[in-house]
Amino acid sequence: MSKIYHWFNSGGRRAKHTGRNARAPSVPLHRPQDFPAMRRAGRLAAATLAMIAPLVREGATTRALDAACESFIRDHGARPAPLGYQGYPFATCMSPNEVVCHGMPDDRPLAAGDLLKIDITVELDGWHGDCCRTFAVGEIDVRRRLLMEVTEAALAAGIAAVRPGGRLSAIGRAVQELVEVAGFSVVRSYCGHGIGREFHQPPQVLHHLDEDRDLTLLPGMFFTIEPMVNDGGHATRRLDDGWTVVTADGGLSAQFEHTVGLTEGGVEIFTQPRAA
Ligand code: MF3
Ligand code: CO
Ligand code: CO
Repeated sequence: MSKIYHWFNSGGRRAKHTGRNARAPSVPLHRPQDFPAMRRAGRLAAATLAMIAPLVREGATTRALDAACESFIRDHGARPAPLGYQGYPFATCMSPNEVVCHGMPDDRPLAAGDLLKIDITVELDGWHGDCCRTFAVGEIDVRRRLLMEVTEAALAAGIAAVRPGGRLSAIGRAVQELVEVAGFSVVRSYCGHGIGREFHQPPQVLHHLDEDRDLTLLPGMFFTIEPMVNDGGHATRRLDDGWTVVTADGGLSAQFEHTVGLTEGGVEIFTQPRAA
């Protein structure tokens, strides 16, 4: 996920609600012939999560899980996109418990009751697939289970809000509504992003409602939806390592992410898990 940037950058003026996309950053519109490559990249990212799922258990270290993901990605002819991205030193992001995102693999053995977000981005033949799931380590309590289920439902609600010709803000509206009705909060300082030949590109996909940062969704747009949901306040803090983002209040956080593409008729999920 990317840090929120200023959407409208001409003299700090904000667009009117009625404004079109005049001052929004330009969003790449991909061609139908670009979809097959995104399908391949997305499928590999999803397969990496499916591969690692049974290895997420008590005693495993996130460093070992990261190494297993990197081998799998390379064995399939791809490259882990995070490695070297703005200096990030690992192949994947591994974010336990109160870590919201951009957690770095380490040597602490996972313990029963931990939540672990694993975020995989592959670059295959120059195209990116990006997805994340929250895993439960051993038995988890009912509150953690609820947090996970609400977050996965929030991703589904965000995807269901995508409509060619519709508005980007419909996504944030749907996600925020679902999360807050359930009594949790949605992170505002990080968001989903356009993706394709670049790992991160416009548009920014907010998971809360902000009609000042809106645009019309069009066929050929590729982006991620990746709500981060906190059991507590939505505020985050970045640690001194320059990467790790944690909840400001120490509450637990969950995340699910898919990469999607807009067609004339609707939305295609590129990172859908599939039967082998
Ligand atoms: N995969 C993350 C996302 O969903 C980005 C990780 S960037 C990194 O956008 F540098 F931390 F790897
Ligand atoms: Co992403
Ligand atoms: Co990601």
